[in-house]
Amino acid sequence: MLGLLLLQVLASCLWLGHGKVVNSFAECPQFFYGGTTPNDALNPKNPAWICQLFDNKYRFATLYDRDKRIPVYSAYKYEPSDAKRPHSWWFVEPQLIDKNSLKQMERESVLTEKYKFTLDQIKESQAVLADYKVMKGLDRGHLSPSSHQDSRESKTATFTLTNIVPQDSSLNTGQWNNYECKTMVQKTKDCKSTYVITGAVPGNTYVSGNRVNRPSHIWSAACCLGEDTQPKDAWGAIAENDKNMVELVSLGVLEKNLTDLYGKTVTLFNNACPRYQSFYLF
Ligand SMILES: *[C@@H]1O[C@H](CO)[C@@H](O)[C@H](O)[C@H]1NC(C)=O
Repeated sequence: MLGLLLLQVLASCLWLGHGKVVNSFAECPQFFYGGTTPNDALNPKNPAWICQLFDNKYRFATLYDRDKRIPVYSAYKYEPSDAKRPHSWWFVEPQLIDKNSLKQMERESVLTEKYKFTLDQIKESQAVLADYKVMKGLDRGHLSPSSHQDSRESKTATFTLTNIVPQDSSLNTGQWNNYECKTMVQKTKDCKSTYVITGAVPGNTYVSGNRVNRPSHIWSAACCLGEDTQPKDAWGAIAENDKNMVELVSLGVLEKNLTDLYGKTVTLFNNACPRYQSFYLF
């Protein structure tokens, strides 16, 4: 009996010590078709589930790898517009410093000056601007791109480093940009709405003094809904992160590619999204 009580006290202390741990996207399921997130095969050892909050509204969702200091994926609804973004600030994520901390993305300078965090505290579990400034031949590659968001605020929100990976410059400005800006427009022509998940496969090398992983592949998957709000099409794209080439594939092939790369069965979307349809339409 006493043992049980001790165990309970110990358990509640551990719980308190870890703050409010939210092991899911429960607060922002709207960025996943049918509320279905990718399965656990993609989860890193030390994950953070981030509902990306900016200007009091959730803008997209990101699964983040605290050890490798890159996102695993960002998920969003495809709502492209050419609204301008108001400023070119870059943000980091206070929740990665301390889970009870601020809920909203913030600039490094505001965190250090106004909230008195040290740069070392910020850097511990995420990449910072200085990491990206020393990289050569690598861009700040967006997973959820600014051009796929509808409002100025949602576009601004994509400029958070938790949504960024070191991406081969020629790929980022070349075929990946072509996929984001041309292929997506073409493929979604008859879609009433489209859900997107874009991710990065961790590579074997690091940049910025071993701090930030350099992904081996960048990938993206889309599930397109028709007038009746049922999925009618789905597709994928995958690129090796050291050359300017993007492969267009069916959702089924992309999941198979990721299954091979992760060594675990990967499912990205709800079962209702067709796996082997769109491949033939390219
Ligand atoms: C993805 O799978 C297809 C079909 O098996 C294969 O041809 C292609 O090389 C794979 N791509 C990557 C990047 O693994």
